[in-house]
Amino acid sequence: MENRIPINHLIMGTTSKEGEQHPKATNIVWHQSSIDRSALSVQRRHRSAILWFTGLSGSGKSTLANAVNSALFERGVTAYVLDGDNIRHGLCQDLGFSDLDREENIRRIGEVAKLFLDAGVIVLTAFVSPFRKDRDKARALVSEGDFLEIFCSAELNICETRDTKGLYAKARAGEITDFTGISSPYEKPNSPELKIDTGAKELQACVDVITNKLIELQIIPKDKLNGNQ
Ligand code: ADX
Repeated sequence: MENRIPINHLIMGTTSKEGEQHPKATNIVWHQSSIDRSALSVQRRHRSAILWFTGLSGSGKSTLANAVNSALFERGVTAYVLDGDNIRHGLCQDLGFSDLDREENIRRIGEVAKLFLDAGVIVLTAFVSPFRKDRDKARALVSEGDFLEIFCSAELNICETRDTKGLYAKARAGEITDFTGISSPYEKPNSPELKIDTGAKELQACVDVITNKLIELQIIPKDKLNGNQ
């Protein structure tokens, strides 16, 4: 990881000696939005946040993110799921699974998630995001408290037994290269805001852990926003 040339240095922008990213374009000026986040949170009656789900393929990230999305919808909270497999059909369709492509994938998602944060939305990102450094870069784009890393900690043997998409079998047979957990590493988070054992815990229990955390952090209110729901 350490000696890689960031892909965005090659195709997207430039990198200073300190590793800081700068736009390739010059003569560009930041235009401030007419409505800020705090105004949105007053109107919507909840804060925005990035819920960053990470874990092996098959660990339940997408399932859990979508279940939380539904629970938030029920409460009248504005939320949206960015899902790895889906995003790779469009925004990131030019990327594969090399370390560099994954780095660029996560860089883009970090930036998109930051836009959702600015739009007053709770954004749930469900990406393997196997490299600690790439996740930390996404975290560093926003203020402390806006980024909650949620480690879906189902172990490899459980994900492989489930093999919901049949990809582990293909990876073991050598039909898929660079497969996370088999032929490409997964770096577990050191101190995620939440670690959820998606290998053992029931889905609803996992959802409750997350909604309770959002209430505790005063990102969402305790009660439904729409009283007659
Ligand atoms: S990430 O590593 O760049 O964060 P991302 O979450 O977008 O990955 O995509 C992972 C999904 O792509 C997996 O859930 C799986 O369905 C599929 N996939 C296909 N090939 C691979 C691979 N080599 N490694 C991991 N996932 C893969």
